[in-house]
Amino acid sequence: MSKHTPSNVSYKKSIRVWDLPTRLLHWGLVISIGYAWFAVEILEDMQQHFYAGYSVLTIILFRLAWGFAGSRYARFGSFFYTPTELINYTSRLFKGPSKSYLGHNPLGSLSALAMIFALLFQASTGLFSSDDYFHGPLSGLIESPLVSRISSLHSLNVDILIALVGLHIAAIMFYQFYKKEKLIAAMFTGRKPMPAEASQKHGITAPNLWLALLILIICIAFVYYLANAYLEPS
Ligand code: HEM
Ligand code: HEM
Repeated sequence: MSKHTPSNVSYKKSIRVWDLPTRLLHWGLVISIGYAWFAVEILEDMQQHFYAGYSVLTIILFRLAWGFAGSRYARFGSFFYTPTELINYTSRLFKGPSKSYLGHNPLGSLSALAMIFALLFQASTGLFSSDDYFHGPLSGLIESPLVSRISSLHSLNVDILIALVGLHIAAIMFYQFYKKEKLIAAMFTGRKPMPAEASQKHGITAPNLWLALLILIICIAFVYYLANAYLEPS
């Protein structure tokens, strides 16, 4: 059995795949990003935008650390597939049932990594951005032409994020309704329905929640420090 544990589709047994931090993190991310967008575009309240942005940054930093310290399918080590696996999986996507994976499938892994890095870019550029009234907390560290350029990148990356998230939601709907794979419920319960033959030992064991809490506190402290590091533009 490969490390990704593929199997055929005849769902009978549900197996624990997503640990609690990964699930909380996912839905926390959805709420924070939604609010970051809503605050700047609808409320036009930059202070609220900053708060939502700090929340996204904290979650993404936590996710990066959890990619090394988390349970089996949260680890980045389980995200990597060979190009052959990726091509085989993609070419058979519309040809009947696909292989099921306990963690992300080859395309899901790519999409997750792309979103994580696009969000890291969005939140980091935000720290150095300014709209002339509200200044990102690190914008005072650099010259104003660079602040303008980074602010443009921050705005431009919004379109990339919208495309990635749009594709992500369309893909999830495709699996849910066309492929009949219950991925959405799994992101709430942590359990994925799998064939009965798939032994329980392939599911995850309980993650170390104290470690998760410690990492979260470090991420919050770091983002709090950045958020309060504002220096007047020179
Ligand atoms: C702002 C919107 C969203 C963002 C940024 C986002 C981001 C992500 C990321 C980064 C992952 C990878 C999870 C990880 O390994 O940590 C993921 C997985 C997932 N997301 Fe989202 N998501 C969004 C909205 C949604 C929505 C609206 C749904 C449900 C309709 C959804 C359902 C899922 C599911 C089911 C998975 C697991 C996919 C799998 O089994 O491979 N997401 N999402
Ligand atoms: C990942 C989370 C974030 C998202 C999705 C996001 C999204 C956006 C959007 C949609 C805009 C409006 C762009 C436009 O109208 O062209 C914007 C502008 C801005 N954001 Fe963010 N942002 C995030 C994080 C942050 C953070 C952490 C900060 C700083 C603490 C920040 C600071 C700013 C500033 C200063 C602007 C105004 C830039 C300008 O007018 O050129 N953002 N952001």
